[in-house]
Amino acid sequence: MVKIGKIELPDFPLLLAPMEDVSDPPFRRLCKLHGADLMYSEFISSEGLIRDAIKSRQKLDIFDYERPVGIQIFGGDEEAMAMSAKIVETVQPDLVDINFGCPVKKVVCKGAGAGVLKDIDLMVRLTKAVVKSTHLPVTVKTRLGWDESSINIDEVAERLQDVGIHALTVHGRTRAQMYKGHSDWSHIARVKNNPRIKIPIFGNGDIDSPEKALEYKNKYGLDGIMIGRAAIGYPWIFDEIKHYFKTGEHLASPNITDRVEAARNHLIWSMEWKGERVGIVEMRRHYTNYFKGIPHFKEHRNKLVTLDEHNALLQVFDDIIQDYSGQLV
Ligand SMILES: Cc1cc2nc3c(=O)[nH]c(=O)nc-3n(C[C@H](O)[C@H](O)[C@H](O)COP(=O)(O)O)c2cc1C
Repeated sequence: MVKIGKIELPDFPLLLAPMEDVSDPPFRRLCKLHGADLMYSEFISSEGLIRDAIKSRQKLDIFDYERPVGIQIFGGDEEAMAMSAKIVETVQPDLVDINFGCPVKKVVCKGAGAGVLKDIDLMVRLTKAVVKSTHLPVTVKTRLGWDESSINIDEVAERLQDVGIHALTVHGRTRAQMYKGHSDWSHIARVKNNPRIKIPIFGNGDIDSPEKALEYKNKYGLDGIMIGRAAIGYPWIFDEIKHYFKTGEHLASPNITDRVEAARNHLIWSMEWKGERVGIVEMRRHYTNYFKGIPHFKEHRNKLVTLDEHNALLQVFDDIIQDYSGQLV
């Protein structure tokens, strides 16, 4: 068992990564159904939360069926981070996570996200401010360091543990790498092997198959892994990895009916949560992923990303099942 504060997770848990514009409640519901052990919201601006920005507030929505669930915040100002952690506390997530990993310029420029990797003292002050302001367990997600020549995750882990975080997830890239190159988990393993480190350490970056998950589990000895991009349009990844760990065999891949069912549920839940119009439009970015590799799919895809009436969309799903029935897809 892995413990984060009082939260009890199974051995070697699989975490769904926080992903802006992706890991909203409808998507999390699918990942939960398919085996994610701990999930996070999209990142939420601490300044936005305090200003009561609608977009930030909406990201605070969490539901009991998805527990344990964490809400992730970012910001570069101690007071704003402390205040936003208090706001987060009012919706009673299981934990609050701080983003010190976002490489995007508009975030980094404000001294938030991965920006603080250049200033560990500030990172420690921000974390301390959040830990002091809430009763919730606080976790952190970050990268290896600012760039190749300044990898400082060893010091970061020790100092953040010392100010009271309950778990650390490390994406094995530097800020300078953005999403390029490979993530290097050997640095994360070194953190885990540091005898001073007692909190769970989760690895993140580039896990996209059961084989790779098992290889990294055995090779790096971490407490669990976090999966991001591989779950987009493919929430089955969690069940597939768990099954492979247990049996050494592959679960059957989702067939066309499974894919349609997932995409349809995703659409329906998006419409329920965001309203019909926004739900339909924001769902368009997901269809390519749900139907990746399906032959001759272009016509259906075109309809899915252009139709704006929900009954017409549901009809497309029925047509897809009809068209591919009897085929091995
Ligand atoms: C579309 C997208 C949005 C992301 N948004 C966030 C975010 O809000 N907070 C965060 O900590 N990381 C964010 N990330 C980074 C992921 O959580 C994760 O660290 C990264 O994708 C590497 O893991 P992966 O290789 O399994 O995708 C985002 C990544 C993607 C692709």
